[in-house]
Amino acid sequence: YRQTAPFPADFLWGASTSAYQVEGAWNEDGKSPSVIDMCQHAAETADFTVASDHYHRVMEDVALFAELGLKAYRFSIAWTRILPGGVGEVNPAGLAFYERLIDELNRHCIEPIVTLYHFDLPWCLEQQGGWNNRATIDAFVEYASTLFTHFGEKVRYWLTINEQNTMILHPGAIGLPEGGVMPTAKSLWQQNHHMMLAQARVMALCHRLLPAAKIGPAINTTSMYAETCKPEDAIAAHNWETLRGWNFLDVAVHGRYNSLAWRYLLDRDIAPDVAEGDAAILLQGRPDYVAINYYSTATIAASRGDASDISARAGDQQIMLGEPGVYRAAENPFVGKTQYGWVVDPVGLRLTLRKTWERYNLPILITENGIGAPDELEAGEVINDDYRIDFLRQHIAQLQLALADGVEVIGYCPWSAIDVVSTHQGYGKRYGFIYVNRGEHDLKDLKRIRKQSFGWYQQVIASNGQSL
Ligand code: BG6
Repeated sequence: YRQTAPFPADFLWGASTSAYQVEGAWNEDGKSPSVIDMCQHAAETADFTVASDHYHRVMEDVALFAELGLKAYRFSIAWTRILPGGVGEVNPAGLAFYERLIDELNRHCIEPIVTLYHFDLPWCLEQQGGWNNRATIDAFVEYASTLFTHFGEKVRYWLTINEQNTMILHPGAIGLPEGGVMPTAKSLWQQNHHMMLAQARVMALCHRLLPAAKIGPAINTTSMYAETCKPEDAIAAHNWETLRGWNFLDVAVHGRYNSLAWRYLLDRDIAPDVAEGDAAILLQGRPDYVAINYYSTATIAASRGDASDISARAGDQQIMLGEPGVYRAAENPFVGKTQYGWVVDPVGLRLTLRKTWERYNLPILITENGIGAPDELEAGEVINDDYRIDFLRQHIAQLQLALADGVEVIGYCPWSAIDVVSTHQGYGKRYGFIYVNRGEHDLKDLKRIRKQSFGWYQQVIASNGQSL
C-alpha cells in the first residue's frame, strides 16, 4: 500500500474557462445574446460585455497557456456564436473563431477539452420556453452535431453540459433573465429531464460520428459529512448528497433516475412528465468519463422540520440552509473557509474522487477546482497569490493520494486558466494563473500579467506533479 502514486505520463495538467466569462465581444461577428447576456447579474455586477477580452486576444492568451506548460485547456463554445438563431443557419465567423483557438492549441500540443454548453443558452430559445420546451432538446443535438462535424478531427475530449445540478438547484446563483421570476420546482425538474435527454442523445451522437472521441457530463460534485454520528444526521447527509449530486450523474451514467431522488420528486409532486420513449433515450447515453467540478464539501444535519431549516440571515444576506424533512446545513469546525465563505477541504477532494470512482468506475477528469480571491496588483507588476498556491498544492497532494487509492484520474484543470468574470461576484473575485488588468467597471488596459501561481504551476506541470 503506497502513500502516493506518480502521476501518469499522459496526465492532463490543464486549466479551465468558459465562453461568457472570458471572451467578451458579446454581440460581435454575428453572435446573438444568451440568457447570461440578458441576466441581472450581467447588468449589475460586472461587465460581461468585455469580460477578459479573450475574443480579441486569443493568440496572446494561448501563447501564455503554452508558456505555462498546459497539456490541456478546457473551455466552452458559445452556442450563440455558432447558431445565432439557436438552430438553423450556421455563423461562419463563430466557427472561425473556435477554429483558430483549437488550431493554435493543437499547434502547441495543448489538448482542447470542449464544453458544449456552460450556462449560456441562446436567449432566442429561452424566449420559446428554454429547457421547458422539448424543441430545445433537438436544438442542442443540432448544435452539437454542427460542432462534431466541424471540429471532430481536432478535438478528442468533449463535455456535454456544465453543472446541470447548479442550474437546476440554484438557478438564482447563475442569474435570472432580467425581470425574470424564479421558476417553480416542477418546471426546474422538467427542464432537468429535458437536459438529461439532450445530453444522452448528444453522447450517443458523438459516439456514432466520432468513435475515437470521448464525451462525458460535468457536474459540481462534493461529499457531505454528517454533523454528528446521530443516525438521523447520516440519513440527512445521504439525502442531500444523493439529491444534489448522484441524482444527476446516475442518470447520465446509468440512463435511469436514482430511486431515492425519484421518490423525492414524486412525494412533492414535482416529478417531470416523462414521454413514451424517454427511458430508451436516456439509456443511449454512455459517457466515456465523468468530469467533476470540486470546490468544497458541506456538512449536514437532520432537518428540524420547520422554517428554521430553510434560511437564515448572515449580515445582510439571506442564506439557504436546507429543506424541511430532507436536510439542514451545519458548520464543520475542522475545515477552513475562503473569504467568500466557501469551505476549503482538500481531503474532501480525495473522498469525493474515491466515491465517484467506486460508484461509476469511469475515468475522472477534474474540470474545476480553485480559490476565488480579490488578488492585489502590487508595485512592479507582482501578484503574490500564495494562498492560491497553498490551496492548489494541498488539493493536488490529495489527488495524488487518490491515485494511490486506485482512483483513475486522467486530468486536473483548475479554475481558471486566466482571470474571468465570476458568476456572481464580478471581477472582484479572481481565480486565474494570469491576472487581467481591469476593475469591476474600469477596463484599464486588460494587460495580461503572470501571477506567482503561474510560475509555481509551471513547475508542477514540468515535473509531472513531483515538485509541489
Ligand atoms: C463553477 C462554474 O460553479 O464555479 C464557473 O462552473 C464558476 O462558471 C465557478 O465561475 C466559480 O464560481 P464563482 O461564483 O466564484 O465564479
